[in-house]
Amino acid sequence: MTETIKDAVARRRTFAIIAHPDAGKTTLTEKLLLFGGAIQLAGEVKAKKDRMNTRSDWMKIERERGISVVTSVMTFEYGDNVFNLLDTPGHEDFADDTYRTLSAVDSAVMVIDAAKGIEPRTLKLFEVCRLRDIPIVTFVNKMDREARNTFEILDEIEAKLALDTAPMTWPVGQGRTFSGTYHLPTNSVRKGDDEMERTPVNGPDSNRVAGLLPLNEQEAFIEELELAREACKPFDRQAFLEGHLTPVYFGSALRNFGVRDLIEALGAFAPPPRDQEADSRVVHATEPEMSAFVFKIQANMDPNHRDRIAFVRVCSGELKRGMKAKLVRTGKQMSLTAPQFFFARSRITADEAYAGDVVGIPNHGTLRIGDTLTEGEEILFRGVPNFAPEILRRVRLGDPMKAKKLKEALQQMAEEGVVQLFQPEDGSPAIVGVVGALQLDVLKERLAAEYGLPVDFEIARFTVCRWIDADSPAELDRFIDSHRGDIARDLDGDPVFLAQHGFGLNYEADRWKQITFTAIKDYQ
Ligand code: G4P
Repeated sequence: MTETIKDAVARRRTFAIIAHPDAGKTTLTEKLLLFGGAIQLAGEVKAKKDRMNTRSDWMKIERERGISVVTSVMTFEYGDNVFNLLDTPGHEDFADDTYRTLSAVDSAVMVIDAAKGIEPRTLKLFEVCRLRDIPIVTFVNKMDREARNTFEILDEIEAKLALDTAPMTWPVGQGRTFSGTYHLPTNSVRKGDDEMERTPVNGPDSNRVAGLLPLNEQEAFIEELELAREACKPFDRQAFLEGHLTPVYFGSALRNFGVRDLIEALGAFAPPPRDQEADSRVVHATEPEMSAFVFKIQANMDPNHRDRIAFVRVCSGELKRGMKAKLVRTGKQMSLTAPQFFFARSRITADEAYAGDVVGIPNHGTLRIGDTLTEGEEILFRGVPNFAPEILRRVRLGDPMKAKKLKEALQQMAEEGVVQLFQPEDGSPAIVGVVGALQLDVLKERLAAEYGLPVDFEIARFTVCRWIDADSPAELDRFIDSHRGDIARDLDGDPVFLAQHGFGLNYEADRWKQITFTAIKDYQ
């Protein structure tokens, strides 16, 4: 029996993990999948990363630099819930990829290294979550090692993120004596993730807790817990959903502590698929008609297939295999003949998917980032962002005979979101823009490996790029006419103003008050 849309939506939790590199994101992902039955043995996510590296040439970059370029999605079940975990690249040069992925989640797990606290990348990613009102559950990892004092960690989160904390568990022991977690709201303990259930206790002074601690730490633990109860805020779900408070869990992903606490928390109070804002109305997750948007395109995931997969987040209704969907940007119908679900090890055909689910739709370039799919309704989802590139380059081609091929290849790379592409109005060669320099390496590697196009990059005359608009189309035309040499069009044909430096931008912005210059554009 297929489940009703309402039940399916209520069960789903779609989330991402945000962390500074090395905090333990991969290890935690692995354990989540392990306990969710999606993989048999810990170590497979890493193994998969390695295997994927050998899959196609351009991923050599990833192998060489030990970073994850690939964003992927993993689905697993635990208890009554279906979890969709969207992975994000760790390296900040791929920040725009991460931001797009965060547009497709309903909550995030923030992993913190217990010894290092809030690190720069955690802070940055947290800020993106805050902008998008994404509720955050905190997992303080590596409690099995030398860690900061628990109160200190909570204080640092509050101070650096301006976010209230509510410790939900308290570590029993620390470093070498770390031996379990004490659940404050229910007064129960769990020795480690091998224990499926928590054991209720009378309080921190119970024999069961004492049995987990060396004699000389027992008293201090009881005192700490009492202080925690007095000094810390209790969990308030509304404040959590509004992004004002984060529940905090302690554990060790490597040694299997606290991971079950975390999964249970996501199931118990992380939000189910949210209602999604479109241009003309808000779409409710439980509406019967299917709607979805594309937040990521990935080409050649498997060179045997030479395929291009659009990652689509379902926002409402039921996405069924074989159904026809309308691609709102073009008005054309497309058949969803082989939508796919992803697991750690494999992908399988998806027969039906509901709000919160992410499916891969193989296509040959029909779908772009930001596209909306519906059962016919003319709505466009907003909010998959496009960031003004910080590095602008012209592509220099060794063999001028291949100019047409290069144009096509760049167009495809831009549609995938690997780079942004700008065609100058004056007919000069295209300019590519990226947020991080490593994206240029990926572009170069892929143009060579997949299209046989060896290229170099030349510094462009411009360093700043802004989308331009005006309330009055005539005024916009006037600006464009008088700056022809500094105007280019993006993939959608929207105009951008290119400046040699920030000073030039400010100068024009001062003179042309009716023109808006923006650094972020929502795909549509
Ligand atoms: P990342 O994806 O956030 O970059 O981190 P990853 O999981 O790869 O973990 C980074 C390092 O921290 C790894 O060690 C990993 O084993 C270790 N680690 C993760 N969680 C814990 C934990 O709870 N306790 C302890 N003590 N260590 C943890 P590595 O030596 O860099 O890699 P590996 O050779 O062990 O795979």
